[in-house]
Amino acid sequence: MKKIIIAIDGFAATGKSTLAKKISTSLGYVYIDTGAMYRTVTYFGQQQNSGNSIDLEQLVDSLSQIKIYFKNSDHEQQIFLNDENVSLKIRDSKVNNAVSDIASVKEIRDFLVAQQRQMGKGKGIVMDGRDIGTVVFPKAECKFFLTASPEIRARRRHKEQLEVGNLESFEAVIENVKARDYKDSTRLINPLRKAESATEIEVSNLSIEEVYQKMITQINYTIRV
Ligand code: DC
Repeated sequence: MKKIIIAIDGFAATGKSTLAKKISTSLGYVYIDTGAMYRTVTYFGQQQNSGNSIDLEQLVDSLSQIKIYFKNSDHEQQIFLNDENVSLKIRDSKVNNAVSDIASVKEIRDFLVAQQRQMGKGKGIVMDGRDIGTVVFPKAECKFFLTASPEIRARRRHKEQLEVGNLESFEAVIENVKARDYKDSTRLINPLRKAESATEIEVSNLSIEEVYQKMITQINYTIRV
C-alpha cells in the first residue's frame, strides 16, 4: 500500500497528539510530536541558565549542541534531549509558559523544521504541530486542522496537568491556552493557520473516537486512490 505523509495542525489541546498516535498505530506509521521538540529546546534554554529565564542569544548560539530523538514503546512515545529522557519535564508549567516565545524565533524554527523534514523523508509518518501542512510538508497527501473552544481545550489541558502532578488552577490554564493561541497565530514566522487544502474539524462536541473515524476514513481513501 502507498505510504503518505499525514499533517495534523491546530490549536493547543484539541487532541492532536492523541489522534496522531492512534492513527500512526493503526497504520504502522511513525508518529512525531513537533510541539515536544519546541518544548525540548525551551527546556534546554532554561537549563542553560540554571532553570532561570532564557538567554535567547546564548540558546541560538548553542543549537548545534541539541540532539533530540524519540523512542517508541507499545504505549507511549518518549523524547530525549542529549540522551536524557525529558518527556515529563517538558510538560511542566515553566516550559508551558515560555514555549510560545521560543517557537517564534526564526533560527529555532529553521533548526527544527529541517529535522522534521528529514524525519518525513521516507513518508509513512504522522506529524502534529502548528505549521506541518503549511511549512514543513506543504505537499502532505492528507492535512487536518483541528479547532475547539478555549474552555473545552483548557478543561482537557487542566485534567492532563493534574495527571502529571501539576496543580495549576483552571483559571491559570485557560489564561495560558488563550495567551498561546494568540502568540501562535500572530507570530511573524510560520504562524498557526489552516493550510488551504486541510480538512477542518471542529472537535468541541465530538469524542476522540468520532474525530478519529472522520480522519481515518479520509486517510484510507487517500491511500487507496
Ligand atoms: O502542541 P504543544 O502545546 O506541545 O506545542 C508547544 C508550543 O510549540 C506551542 O506554543 C506551539 C509551538 N509549536 C509550533 O510553533 N510549531 C509546531 N510545529 C509545534 C508546536
